[in-house]
Amino acid sequence: MTTRLRVEKLSKTFVLHNQQGIKLPVFHNVSLEVNAGECVVLHGRSGSGKSTLLRSLYGNYLPDSGHIWVKHQEQWVDMVSAQAREILDVRRHTLGWVSQFLRVIPRISALNLVMQPLVELGIGKAEAEQRAGELLQHLNVPERLWQLAPSTFSGGEQQRVNIARGFIVDYPVLLLDEPTASLDATNRAAVVTLIEKAKARGAAVVGIFHDEDVRERVADRLHVMTPEQANAENLA
Ligand SMILES: Nc1ncnc2c1ncn2[C@@H]1O[C@H](COP(=O)(O)OP(=O)(O)O)[C@@H](O)[C@H]1O
Ligand SMILES: [Mg+2]
Repeated sequence: MTTRLRVEKLSKTFVLHNQQGIKLPVFHNVSLEVNAGECVVLHGRSGSGKSTLLRSLYGNYLPDSGHIWVKHQEQWVDMVSAQAREILDVRRHTLGWVSQFLRVIPRISALNLVMQPLVELGIGKAEAEQRAGELLQHLNVPERLWQLAPSTFSGGEQQRVNIARGFIVDYPVLLLDEPTASLDATNRAAVVTLIEKAKARGAAVVGIFHDEDVRERVADRLHVMTPEQANAENLA
């Protein structure tokens, strides 16, 4: 088995600077490994730190201690200590991310938003456009919307644009934060197919899925988040 992501003893405490510096331990000594072709699902109650862990893996939050090793073009890069430029390079080539909500950029069409990550890798416009169209079609985004900016789209339409953008590059590692939360059964199934295909081509996936059916379809393992234990250990 090829390991693509290795999390070692990762801890994160938020410090609320504008509230008397109150410390909010979120997780403590989290370790986990994800192999190529495997999906690990972060599991736990709301507020147990799933999104914070996923955002830390993407380099959005800086953990207090521990390591996040990502296999990037045959080299191991630690997202905790990497320089900003290196993190951007890892994100461009290796690490994909689907957030819970689309960040809409005014006046940029849905098609262009979806194409952008491929174009940034130097793929030709025609090929990128075709791939974007296939994904939007697969996710049942009506063709009449493709040339429009998604700011006026429904929540579910925006989320499907967001998912298409996250899946357009064949990233070796994919991070998914509740990608199916605002979707109906048909579109949830379309997303499950994308995740299954990504696994089949060897992607290592870490995901959060509210929906039990989706979880059962895609998860190879659960990683259970236990906040009480984390807090108790931290305070001890
Ligand atoms: N940026 C932040 N600053 C301070 N506290 C945060 C921040 N993000 C999340 N938290 C807190 O961290 C805890 C875990 O949140 P989160 O990771 O979003 O949980 P989950 O995704 O499992 O619902 C919560 O108590 C939340 O209030
Ligand atoms: Mg969350």
